[in-house]
Amino acid sequence: MTLEEFKKISQEEINKANEEITTVSDEQTLNNFKGRFLGKKSHLTDFYASMRDVVKEEKKDFGIALNDLRAKLQSLFDEKEAAFRQAKLNARLEKEKVDITLPGYNNTLGSKHPFYAVVDDVTDFFLGLGYTVADGPEVESDRNNFELMNIPKDHPARDMQDSFSINDNTILRSHTSSVQARVLAAAQGKGPIKVICPGKVYRRDNDATHSHQFGQIEGLVISEDATFANLLETLTLLLRHLFGEKREVRFRPSFFPFTEPSVEADISCFECNGKGCSLCKHTGWIEILGSGMVNPNVLRINGFDDKKYQGFAFGIGIDRVAMLKYGIDDIKRFYTNDVQFIDQFRKE
Ligand code: DAH
Repeated sequence: MTLEEFKKISQEEINKANEEITTVSDEQTLNNFKGRFLGKKSHLTDFYASMRDVVKEEKKDFGIALNDLRAKLQSLFDEKEAAFRQAKLNARLEKEKVDITLPGYNNTLGSKHPFYAVVDDVTDFFLGLGYTVADGPEVESDRNNFELMNIPKDHPARDMQDSFSINDNTILRSHTSSVQARVLAAAQGKGPIKVICPGKVYRRDNDATHSHQFGQIEGLVISEDATFANLLETLTLLLRHLFGEKREVRFRPSFFPFTEPSVEADISCFECNGKGCSLCKHTGWIEILGSGMVNPNVLRINGFDDKKYQGFAFGIGIDRVAMLKYGIDDIKRFYTNDVQFIDQFRKE
């Protein structure tokens, strides 16, 4: 084939392709087009094969013309393919239309539960004094909850803390003092110890200010020289931190099997400033927590030398503090999951 002849055939091939591409209406017919004009059995492939018969002088120009033909055919295919792709995309965009002017979903920010507001506040306070936080299980042994806290099986103090039995030796802990036994065991007779243990406890109780579940924060300090004065100062600082610097703090003698001597701490009523009102039951004082010097017997039965070590402990009711601080009327509100109740404690 001469160059002249090829140019003519080539033009005819392009004319044919131009005509045919107008009938291409979908991917299937586009593929047919590709096969016919660019595929293995196309004229184009034959033309390339016929290159070898072209006379030497025309080979170069023949090659150029051939490549030109291929480029033109290819671009016919490419344009159509791009048009199909675009049409497909347009159809999809049309179908998946989103109205970006619609208002978005409202993301409401939660608020801290008043129970945990107290836990966090008290924890921060004690971390500032160099305490660490200890933890213990809510399902606890009778031994840790009672016996190692110096409350033997038949001790009348057990009556005040009637809890829920799992079996003869296992209960839902009735106070966080059980964590004292765990902390002392872990320390293996070696002080100093300075911990708080916040957590849930359980008792057979049910009225507006007592429920079967509530929270306590236990504190335990053991060293060679921790004194009763240290206890009074620590708790006074805590109570003023919680209820205001103007609060007066009063300590009354009390009894707990695990402390000796034992005291209970009251604060002057923040509602009436000590004059007497319904909140303080007209006494001017509000009872807040129990505490005392760790009973040497507790030290001994938990593997500590009571001649070398001494210390103090305290237990504070989380729900009670929250109820007083925020004026909450019923302890059940803490766990009935009423969003309207919790929402009141949102900090804007
Ligand atoms: N465990 C006591 C209770 O639940 C509270 C308590 C009193 C804890 C005095 C103490 C303490 O650590 O020293 O009633």
